[in-house]
This record gives sequence, structure tokens and C-alpha cells, in this order.
Amino acid sequence: WGKTGHRATAEIAESYLNKKAKKAIDDLLSGQGLAFVANYADDIKSDPEYREFGPWHYVNIDPETAEYKIEEANEGGDLVQAIRKCVEVLKDKNASKEQKQFHLKMLVHFVGDLHQPFHTGHAEDKGGNDIQVRWFNDGSNIHRVWDSEMINFYQMSYTELALNTGDLSRAQIKSIEKGKLLDWVYESRAMAEDLYAEVDNGEKLGYSYMYEHMPTVLNQLQKGGVRLAKILNDIYS
Ligand code: ADE
Ligand code: ZN
Ligand code: ZN
Repeated sequence: WGKTGHRATAEIAESYLNKKAKKAIDDLLSGQGLAFVANYADDIKSDPEYREFGPWHYVNIDPETAEYKIEEANEGGDLVQAIRKCVEVLKDKNASKEQKQFHLKMLVHFVGDLHQPFHTGHAEDKGGNDIQVRWFNDGSNIHRVWDSEMINFYQMSYTELALNTGDLSRAQIKSIEKGKLLDWVYESRAMAEDLYAEVDNGEKLGYSYMYEHMPTVLNQLQKGGVRLAKILNDIYS
């Protein structure tokens, strides 16, 4: 996602944190909220010192097997390894406060990215970045349409956006929380496949594409928030 998407997910997560998690996060981030740190992982991208974290933002699964195998995974890391690493450091009693701060900020971002379907897309088109489309009258690509074009069209703040994802019943929360990290990856991946199938290179997309898919965008932001909170609540339980 872009800045607003990541902040919305973080804001939603904030509302599902339990007391213990809230306290631990408050200590680590000196009172900064999750939305405030949600784009840190993108902000450091241009710094050569942090270049190694570039591949942590996405995961490309072999379309043949459609299965994530750690033996075949990118050695430079990917979204799955990134989230596992962040959780590991946050649980590690021997990790320093600085290490924990860093990995918490990264985790908030990556759980967001996991719910942008094209962050689990195909390697050969860089998760849709190489699929050019026209967005209204401007040049764009299908990855960017999902990262930010649809969201930015609304010109809403992240808090307004978060509010428009709606309230969830206890049963709905439980259903979203269900499953493991890889189940969530496959879910996102399956959505990406459907989206790939309905777009052509060079296609012009506009309001009808947006109106069809914005409910899915909001739903994905919400799922990201609920699952981020679940991960954090589990860490600090
Ligand atoms: N961003 C850059 N490369 C990517 C890829 N291969 N998949 C998804 N997102 C990306
Ligand atoms: Zn992206
Ligand atoms: Zn990212």
C-alpha cells in the first residue's frame, strides 16, 4: 500500500489491541501510535544501509506449485520471512530495545503489505508493477492502482478511511483471525490471481474499476488491521 493504506491498517489494528499489547507498544514507541510508524519500512528504502530489506515487502510464489516452500524462497528474504523475523525479535528476551523498536515498525508495515494482493503476485511482472494501465487519463500500473490510486482518489484521511471499513461482529473478527501466516498469504495470492485475470496490459481503468474494487480494498485494510492486532496481542499475551 501507499502511505494512507498503511496508516489505515495500523489505525484499525490499534483499536483491536488488548491492554498488555498497548502498554508494551506504548513503551517501545514512546507514545507514537502504530499509524505514525506504519511507513517507516518504505521511508528507509532509499538508504543504502537498509537495502537488504527491499525484498521483505513482497512474496512471489512459484505459479506452478502455488505453494510457499522455505527451501525455494528468496534468499534475500521476502514478506513471509520478514514477518516471522519481526515476531521472533519482538518475542526475544535478549533482543535490545532498539532491535524491538525497529522490528515492530517493520511488522506494522509488512502485515499491511501482505493484504495488498499484488504484494503476493508474480515475480515476472514484479507484482503487477510491469503491467501498465491508464488510470483515468494518467499512466500507471496495476500494482500502483491497488497500492494508492484507488485510495488516493477518495482524498480521505487514514482515520476516515479506517472508519469506513465498518464495524465487525465478534464472529467476523474470529473468522478473520483464523489461520496461520501462510493461509493469509494464499488468500491474498488467490485474490491477486483473480485480479491478474481481469486486467490487460495498456487497459484504461477508471471509476467503474474503482467502484467495483474499493469494497475489497477497504476489506483488505480491515483484515490487515485485525490480523496485525492478533499478532501483537499474541506476542504480548
Ligand atoms: N515490488 C517490487 N518487486 C515486486 C515483486 N516482485 N512482487 C511484488 N511487489 C514488488
Ligand atoms: Zn506496493
Ligand atoms: Zn511496503
